[in-house]
Amino acid sequence: MCGIVGYVGPRPVTELLLDGLRRLEYRGYDSSGIAVMTDGTMRISRAVGRIAQLAEQVEPTQCRATIGIGHTRWATHGRPSEENAHPHLGGTGEVVLVHNGVIENYRDLKAKLQAKGFVFQSETDTEVIAHLIAEQLHAAQAETKKATGPEQIRDALLEVIRRSVAQLRGTYGLLVMFRDWPDTLFAARLGSPLVIGIGAKEHFVASDGSALAGKTDKIVYLADHQFAAITNESLDVHHREDGVINHDVHALNWDVTDVELSGYDHYMLKEIHEQPESVANTMRGRLSEEEGTAVFGGLNLSPKDLRDVKRIVLTACGTSWHSALVGEYLFEELAHIPVEVEYASELRYRNPPMSDDTLVFAITQSGETADTLAALREMKRKGHPTLAICNVVGSTIAKEADGGVYLHAGPEIGVASTKAYTSQCAALAMLALYFGRLRHLSYSDGRKMIDQLRQLPSKIEQALQADQHVKQIAKRYSDCGNFLYLGRHFNFPTALEGALKLKEISYIHAEGYPAAEMKHGPIALVDERTPSVFVMPRGFIYDKVMSNLEEIKARGGPVIAIAEEGDDRVGQIADDVVFIPQVDEWLQPIVSVIPLQLLAYHIAVLRGCDVDKPRNLAKSVTVE
Ligand code: AGP
Repeated sequence: MCGIVGYVGPRPVTELLLDGLRRLEYRGYDSSGIAVMTDGTMRISRAVGRIAQLAEQVEPTQCRATIGIGHTRWATHGRPSEENAHPHLGGTGEVVLVHNGVIENYRDLKAKLQAKGFVFQSETDTEVIAHLIAEQLHAAQAETKKATGPEQIRDALLEVIRRSVAQLRGTYGLLVMFRDWPDTLFAARLGSPLVIGIGAKEHFVASDGSALAGKTDKIVYLADHQFAAITNESLDVHHREDGVINHDVHALNWDVTDVELSGYDHYMLKEIHEQPESVANTMRGRLSEEEGTAVFGGLNLSPKDLRDVKRIVLTACGTSWHSALVGEYLFEELAHIPVEVEYASELRYRNPPMSDDTLVFAITQSGETADTLAALREMKRKGHPTLAICNVVGSTIAKEADGGVYLHAGPEIGVASTKAYTSQCAALAMLALYFGRLRHLSYSDGRKMIDQLRQLPSKIEQALQADQHVKQIAKRYSDCGNFLYLGRHFNFPTALEGALKLKEISYIHAEGYPAAEMKHGPIALVDERTPSVFVMPRGFIYDKVMSNLEEIKARGGPVIAIAEEGDDRVGQIADDVVFIPQVDEWLQPIVSVIPLQLLAYHIAVLRGCDVDKPRNLAKSVTVE
């Protein structure tokens, strides 16, 4: 997915665009560009690499401009290059635009435009949109010429854009400028988010709110099939069919400190250390000692509806899919409800027999993951009630689900998800408690669990104290080429999540397995340079896991154990041990993942990897 920014107002635009792009660089970072209008001339700068490279190219003349657009790219069509970087021009430069999304029918449209004489400079699908708009602009010359006032001109140009995007199949978040009408930004949205920030005689546009933190506290979410004409003093929102609509203004609850490094070397490290607070925020206002249960305001399903639920499907991608696996154990153990966990990218095309009393949860940090959105829509099409567990207020999935639970974990900038994961697990723990108390859990059961949940932030804080010890362990293994991560029961998903963290930021191959499963093949991988990370806090299957650890040691494999404080056995066998505080098994996934996050982080730093912007990745995958 890409980052989009725009500004129109009294201030010099160039630095505002660059600052916004720096905030959004986590969304995609292989190339970037800006276009500004100054003295009636469109000035464009584009660069491969990071925003720093782009900033070096900005010319002084661009610094006088007060309207412009910018883009940071995660390549979907066409390799990272200056030619493929946005903004792209349409026609002979009368249109310039930036785009987030994927146009599926771009090849056919490109061929038709080329047959009409349009000359392409890039391999991107985006440039097709720019030329389509130029074509429609030429066709609408009569309307634009006879338009008398600025409003009529804006309406005519919005119609030009509406006609153009009507030919597209796919998704788009667009920001468009016209060379001959240099005081207005035009936005259009279908499937890729756009938010408009409202200031005093100025407006901002961005693909997510993190770019607007500290610039405004009032935002408008553009919805699908909506268009906007934006000047320094006006904001007109139109719907494809319904024409002008009254737009709702929402509060932007993020401040600058949420999106700044605040003294940490990387956002990922900051967000790892934020977890005592972010988990506390997820639970805030949702734990009721009086009722001995969790309470939620946004499920939009009555206790009776929820009592009638006979089966739950949890669908997600990546790290969120791992929290879904934790949720499976939680709902089964606490609420005795059968659960299926489905990869969203698979569920959207499968047709599993599902009874009407099946409730579907979509779990997603960003609320914009294309596969998860598609799976949600498929489940709604089949008539199932849907709930979202999401971190971004107003995101597409949060809005399209029938109800849900916001994580309130604050913006997660690091591409590798950390605090969102533990907040997802905490939300699922509260939901499982809630469902269990609707069924068979007693008040005293509930009170005990509420007390345990209340202690979570301090338990996480204690686990974080192992940071420097983990850093020393990382030094011993940072040059290994393969890792195994092993855990059982509640900590099998933890093993999967630890492996993914290492893979995605250090580029080391790592696999997570149920600990017992390694005997059925993966143990063949074990040698003295293949560490096995055992997630083994005490529990009813501790002895079985210890046996698996001894089987690895017997074959010369080094072992790193994540174990419970006070465990005096594991240190006699494992090569390295990281202790975590004692919590009941149902909450272990939230605490046992902390040292795994830190291990991945320190190994990646030792290997010189770009922790916050790992190669080939983007923060939210809005393409399929
Ligand atoms: C997590 O570390 C990854 N960056 C990735 O797997 C992510 O969890 C996945 O893309 C799902 O994103 P979402 O939670 O925003 O839907």
